Amino acid sequence: MNSNLLHVEIVQKRNSIAKKSFIVDAVKGFLSNYSSITPGVTIHNHEFEENPNLLEHVECISFCDTEQDSEVVGSEANFVYHVYTLDTFGVETDTMTDTASGEELSAADVWALPAEEFHGLWESLVFDSELKEDLLKFVETAFEFADLRVDPNVISWNRVVLLHGPPGTGKTSLCRALAQKLAIRLGDRFPRARLLEINAHGLFSKWFSESGKLVAKLFDRIREIVDDPKMLACVLVDEVESLAHARRAALAGLEPSDSIRAVNAILTQLDRLKRYPNALVLTTSNVTGAIDVAFVDRADIKRHVGPPSERAAYEILRGCCAELMARGVVAPREQLFALRVLEAARFADTEGSRASLRLWAAARAAATHSISGRALRRLPFLARALYSGARPPLLQFIEALHAALTSHLADASDLEKNDLPVET
Ligand SMILES: Nc1ncnc2c1ncn2[C@@H]1O[C@H](COP(=O)(O)OP(=O)(O)OP(=O)(O)O)[C@@H](O)[C@H]1O
Ligand SMILES: [Mg+2]
Repeated sequence: MNSNLLHVEIVQKRNSIAKKSFIVDAVKGFLSNYSSITPGVTIHNHEFEENPNLLEHVECISFCDTEQDSEVVGSEANFVYHVYTLDTFGVETDTMTDTASGEELSAADVWALPAEEFHGLWESLVFDSELKEDLLKFVETAFEFADLRVDPNVISWNRVVLLHGPPGTGKTSLCRALAQKLAIRLGDRFPRARLLEINAHGLFSKWFSESGKLVAKLFDRIREIVDDPKMLACVLVDEVESLAHARRAALAGLEPSDSIRAVNAILTQLDRLKRYPNALVLTTSNVTGAIDVAFVDRADIKRHVGPPSERAAYEILRGCCAELMARGVVAPREQLFALRVLEAARFADTEGSRASLRLWAAARAAATHSISGRALRRLPFLARALYSGARPPLLQFIEALHAALTSHLADASDLEKNDLPVET
């Protein structure tokens, strides 16, 4: 693989009717002014002042790269351009009514992708391993195999992903972000894309006399979507263990035995989706141990997603501080160094690195206690609300973060003592 491969993601303005080729040419011209490009950087509309075409048609340009994160020399880079607009319609909830009880339940949430809501989500998720890159490569390869009509009886692969791990570690977010990324990257092959989030919990949390029928109806609708070969259909079954629970309850006689048929129906239907070369099934589970759902065994890629390590925690908190400084909640703006810069300086304590080092200490403490990404993202809010004055300077705010962390840990341990389930 070409290590200088650089994906250039270009968000076209919604009101622009320019052709993609026109936009790509304008961006090429613009990039020829750059001698080097840093992956991860985004150029926003207000930075296009010198370039009327970009100013009129382009929202922002991001450089993404799965192979490396150091600077790329412009003339040597192998650019791949992706031009897209963001859908602003938001979520559409597919509701169904159980005719016997008259109860209405939401069966699925449907998003047209790429959606504005998920813009930047992929970039906001930080994991230490190559989790994101691996997932993307895996799914791209799966689509490539389907495209080249590789015989699935000879080489076995499905387009089924399972992410499992403790609560709040970013599993659902990662599934959504992956769907969004694929909609962008595979835009030429699939000009249309949808994310369908099946509400397994809602469908099976209680027994509906017509669960079987509801499942059938739901999949009729899903099939209408996947029947369009130019449509990328990502089907997300969040908390797939609720299927296993329902099955177990039925086997134990706690639920009418009909319900097992409904659960089995959903598994069979999901299985059938694999035949569609444009469908991808994403599943998540909170149960870390064995998940006894027959279907899940067939997932090709199963990944454990754990709480952020100290490195990831640092990057997450650094991003939070940057956001608060950009919004003026923490002022004035100061620099927080990337971890590799701190490492290169061997964590030397200087005036300029003090805030970064204190933040690093907070990140390490958070990682030692296996704090989830969700809890971590809440700390800055608590810090500002309870432990700092208005517009605190950065160092003072980071001390407040330490205080918020200490109080979060104390609360968690109190809950544990009372034997309540806690999310760290
Ligand atoms: N590794 C991470 N990097 C950045 N943000 C994270 C990370 N892990 C969790 N978060 C943040 O925590 C929040 C919750 O994530 P999400 O709902 O995806 O977790 P989950 O694993 O699906 O949780 P649950 O098992 O409870 O459903 C999101 O706002 C997400 O951005
Ligand atoms: Mg989740």
